[in-house]
Amino acid sequence: MDTTLDDLVAQARLRFAQASDRAALENEKAALLGKQGALTALLRGLSGMQGEEKRRLGAQINQAKQQVEALLAERRAALDQRLLDQRLAAETIDVTLPGRGRSTGGVHPVIRSWQRVEQIFRSIGFDVADGPEIENDWTNFTALNNPENHPARSMQDTFYVDMTDAQGLPLVLRTHTSPMQVRYARMHEPPIKVIAPGRTYRVDSDATHSPMFHQVEGLWIDEHISFADLKGVYTHFLRAFFGTDDLTLRFRPSFFPFTEPSAEIDMMFKAGPLKGRWLEISGSGQVHPQVVRNFGLDPEKYIGFAFGSGLERLAMLRYGITDLRQFFEGDLRFLRQFNV
Ligand code: PHE
Repeated sequence: MDTTLDDLVAQARLRFAQASDRAALENEKAALLGKQGALTALLRGLSGMQGEEKRRLGAQINQAKQQVEALLAERRAALDQRLLDQRLAAETIDVTLPGRGRSTGGVHPVIRSWQRVEQIFRSIGFDVADGPEIENDWTNFTALNNPENHPARSMQDTFYVDMTDAQGLPLVLRTHTSPMQVRYARMHEPPIKVIAPGRTYRVDSDATHSPMFHQVEGLWIDEHISFADLKGVYTHFLRAFFGTDDLTLRFRPSFFPFTEPSAEIDMMFKAGPLKGRWLEISGSGQVHPQVVRNFGLDPEKYIGFAFGSGLERLAMLRYGITDLRQFFEGDLRFLRQFNV
């Protein structure tokens, strides 16, 4: 082959190899095969030739042209492949990575205790009632025989809401679940046998108090419900709740405006880590005649007991938790332990 043509092919190989993308490659192609291209010029030069020489040179130029076209096709394919590889690398999805999964929620330990309390009281014939957390001060205090000047009503204890209800009564975040005694009893006929678990609020915050906490109220009113019934019901409840008969109760005289007589219920485990220590677990008492009257019932005919227990306290004893604030910090390391 003519050395000029060999050079041309060699040069094409080199310049195609140096073209780093399709645009550069097509420019190199134009320089050889385009209208002004070197090979095109050679082909054009044939027109001035004759006979054998023209045929020989023509065949050589065509061969060189085919070689250049083959080199071009090869380089195009290589550049396209490189582009594809780059895109694949950039857009790659590692299907072997572990999935993010979807975590399922768990039941909060206080709510677990709440559910357990409901289950136990339902099994012995108690209804379960729910009521407003924003309560009027008549139901929260007055109907429960709290005198106007009782300290529990003061700003230090109570979150007052800067509003009144439809009757113009001041509103408070209920300081206990006891107003549910009044609401429920005014809506039902005796025998009244109900628990009312729920959230309550007081201006109080330390290792054993939180401004929001949970209580469960109990109320049993009929014609002859006595302190003995309270003792029987509450003993059964605690034994079922803690899953052991190895505990004992004592009733310690106390004072609540809405019960007379009143008692704190203390309990003691006879085995286990808390063995031998009296633990205060609930307020209780025989419903005060004035409160029975406020229920709309005749205190000469109806009598019964009420109790109000802290759900956090019950949960803490059940799980061995010492700081009540842990319940409300939302730390998953703490909360997960109750959902294994
Ligand atoms: N409501 C009282 C409290 O929050 C507890 C209680 C309820 C006491 C029912 C007696 C009867 O402290």
